[in-house]
Amino acid sequence: MKNTRQFHRDRRSALALAMRGHTEGGLAIVPTAPEVARNRDTLYPFRPDSYFHYLSGFPEPEAAVVVIADGDGERHLLFCRDKDAERETWDGFRYGPDAAREIFGFDEAYAYPELDAKLRELAVDRPALYTPLGLFEAWDHRIVQLLNAVRAQVRTGVAAPDAVVDVRGILDDMRLVKDAHEIELMRRANAISSAAHRRAMARTRPGWREYQVEAELVHEFLRAGALAVAYPSIVASGPNACVLHYRENDREMSDGELLLIDAGCEYQGYAADITRTFPVGGRFTGPQKEIYELVLAAQHACLDAVKPGVDFHDYHKVADRVLAQGYLDLGLVTGTLDEVLETGTFRRFSLHRAGHWLGMDVHDAGLYQVKGVPQKLVPGMVLTVEPGTYIRPADDVPETWWSIGVRIEDDVLVTAGGHENLTAATPKSVADVEAACTR
Ligand code: GLY
Ligand code: MN
Ligand code: MN
Repeated sequence: MKNTRQFHRDRRSALALAMRGHTEGGLAIVPTAPEVARNRDTLYPFRPDSYFHYLSGFPEPEAAVVVIADGDGERHLLFCRDKDAERETWDGFRYGPDAAREIFGFDEAYAYPELDAKLRELAVDRPALYTPLGLFEAWDHRIVQLLNAVRAQVRTGVAAPDAVVDVRGILDDMRLVKDAHEIELMRRANAISSAAHRRAMARTRPGWREYQVEAELVHEFLRAGALAVAYPSIVASGPNACVLHYRENDREMSDGELLLIDAGCEYQGYAADITRTFPVGGRFTGPQKEIYELVLAAQHACLDAVKPGVDFHDYHKVADRVLAQGYLDLGLVTGTLDEVLETGTFRRFSLHRAGHWLGMDVHDAGLYQVKGVPQKLVPGMVLTVEPGTYIRPADDVPETWWSIGVRIEDDVLVTAGGHENLTAATPKSVADVEAACTR
């Protein structure tokens, strides 16, 4: 069978190149995630580990990628479950090493039970071992056992790797800048998630419970082939919008309230992370509109600040400034803009930063600062832009603003010319949101 996964191979080669740069090569071992029991003999749906998925695209549990980089070149190995007619009858298809090697573009593939014995040979006399450290406890233990097994052979004249390096350092840097294939998947995750938000706007009715709206989101995700959510959907009506990671999704909604939905699907391993806030009854009230327009102005100002060459932190400062000025104008805080920014009194209503990296993980891999120096945005980075305002009831806040919570979140690709808003198909202006809420 033809290898259709050249981009995975290219990523493994990039890892090998980086290993040569760091330690003149070595052995990298990247396991997939363990399966996790939900209750008795039922497992949580399996999701491959993101690093493993990045390097292989291989979907089954009990698997590991091995990359060997040395003076002679590189070897790419996959360990995976053997074919098993009995288990395949119960649980479904398994590739098995032979087909997996061909389809996923590896040089060699072996049955997973051979992993420890094979690694004891492969780790001999390597300058360094690269693996995730502190990601899976059982894996850490396995790596220590591997090193000890090699060390135990010292009298035969062999040595264990001197250095053990957390491979995530290299992979995080690689994952920060998305390649063309990743960008395509993120466009698709956003298109599906945008459709889900539009469906939620169109179908939500006063008297519904939040989980009924969640069902509309899931409907759109699944029918489009996005088989998982990127994170638990937040469907937060009325006062629940002021609970940042609200989970219950069971409140009955009323006319006159806002509904904040923070939801995105995972499409072939890649996340969308979109928030929209809209009126349950289809029309914003006056105070709701004032807060909404303020957050929207902050969001537009942030988007303008996303372009190559600027510090990651820049757009967060823009959000702070616009929101703080808005709170001053509305009488929610007092003082001058500089005072409000310096003392941070505005943070009472802002609560979180204006965004984060996005990719396979919703809060994706990659440093925000390297040795104290902020990352500069470069084409291929993907980040969220998500200012918000949350006003909890309090004696010193006029009642007219109570329980208004608004967040507007888009997913943005940095491009050579500035940025591309991957979420552009999700209604955002007051007019567009109200038009999408056909009641
Ligand atoms: N949905 C999580 C976040 O927006 O960061
Ligand atoms: Mn987010
Ligand atoms: Mn979000």
